[in-house]
Amino acid sequence: MKATTPAKPASNTGRRILLGLTGGIAAYKSAQLVRMLVKAGHDVRVVMTEAACRFITPVTMQALSGQTVWTDLWDPRVADNMGHIELSRDRELIVVAPGSANFMAKVVQGLADDLLSTLCLARDCPLMIAPAMNRQMWDNAATQRNVSQLRKDGVLLAGPAPGDQACGETGMGRMLEPEEIFGEIEAFFQPKSLAGKRVLVTAGPTAEAIDPVRSITNASSGKMGYAVARAAREAGAQVTLISGPTALATPGGVERIDVKSAQQMFEAVKKAVARADVFVAVAAVSDYRVVNAAEQKIKKASGKGMTLELAENPDILAYVAKLPSPPFCVGFAAETEKLVAHAKEKRARKKIPLLAANLAQQALGADDNEIVLYDDAGEHPLGRGSKLEQARKLVGHVAAMLKRGKRPA
Ligand code: C5P
Repeated sequence: MKATTPAKPASNTGRRILLGLTGGIAAYKSAQLVRMLVKAGHDVRVVMTEAACRFITPVTMQALSGQTVWTDLWDPRVADNMGHIELSRDRELIVVAPGSANFMAKVVQGLADDLLSTLCLARDCPLMIAPAMNRQMWDNAATQRNVSQLRKDGVLLAGPAPGDQACGETGMGRMLEPEEIFGEIEAFFQPKSLAGKRVLVTAGPTAEAIDPVRSITNASSGKMGYAVARAAREAGAQVTLISGPTALATPGGVERIDVKSAQQMFEAVKKAVARADVFVAVAAVSDYRVVNAAEQKIKKASGKGMTLELAENPDILAYVAKLPSPPFCVGFAAETEKLVAHAKEKRARKKIPLLAANLAQQALGADDNEIVLYDDAGEHPLGRGSKLEQARKLVGHVAAMLKRGKRPA
């Protein structure tokens, strides 16, 4: 066998990643992770500690990564016996998943007593650790000290999460799922095109009370708005998400303010907007609210119909766009027909520089979407893709427009 396995050339979007595995039952999830990374076009070199090899075999990781798996600091196949430098030199990111409590302690202390810890000490690329351990090991003061030191040292931590653990206990310390770690890795590689910017996003539906147990609402899952918040955060922005009722988890690093009615959303936006550089109105805001909502549950009067009196809600986006020095405003239009005509009309009426339009029947509740952007330059179809992919493209477009706007005419 050759001294080193040359890295396969990464694709255009592919990155050169070193995936380290330390000892933990969560190592089985890393098989799925390497598969996802390779499928996405990344070049993944796997290094395993001796303890990791007790949980999952190097053969498995070799088959899935398509490359030699490295386990030994003294492996004579590494050129010049400089494995600790060779194997990480061309890498753009080291990800250690699972990251044991012991491994984290070693990184904090700068110990280099096996191949993986040596590679980490000798690295010149960022290190991301996905911790995985029993909840008491995680809660232990020593681990917590190490966690805060790792953060101070610039090490990125992906997780852990709370939940059921392999040992039968429940608590903090469970390794993130492979999809979540994959998401963290993809996020890491996003261009930081909105660094230093503050982005305000509205998302989800609003709920207009009829009485304490009933409301008028819009069919909106909030997925697109949450994806926009996440993509803006990934791009380096400080993000505030004002959300109507949804069942979604807050994207990492995003400040979330929960509201119910359009009026509450309006008040929250008014408070936050002064600090915003960019405002993205993704929420499906109810156009009307019920006048004199009942304080007690309305009883059915059989045989009789019922009439609700409705009043128009404020148009939050139009209000923000009309401010004396408004943030860069982005509107959304979900239409059931005549997409182009409605989108253009809406952009002009609300006087906003950018509008993202999609067909409601394609987008509602779905995980993917097909957005077309409209700005002064015309129409920009984003193609079909996941809502996160679409949101990343939208964020890239906003960043490019902001940059152009800054240039002297
Ligand atoms: O007027 P229409 O509801 O079709 O416009 C949709 C866009 O306006 C979305 O960006 C939505 O978030 C925003 N909007 C708003 N306040 C309203 C109604 C819509 O901010 N009351």
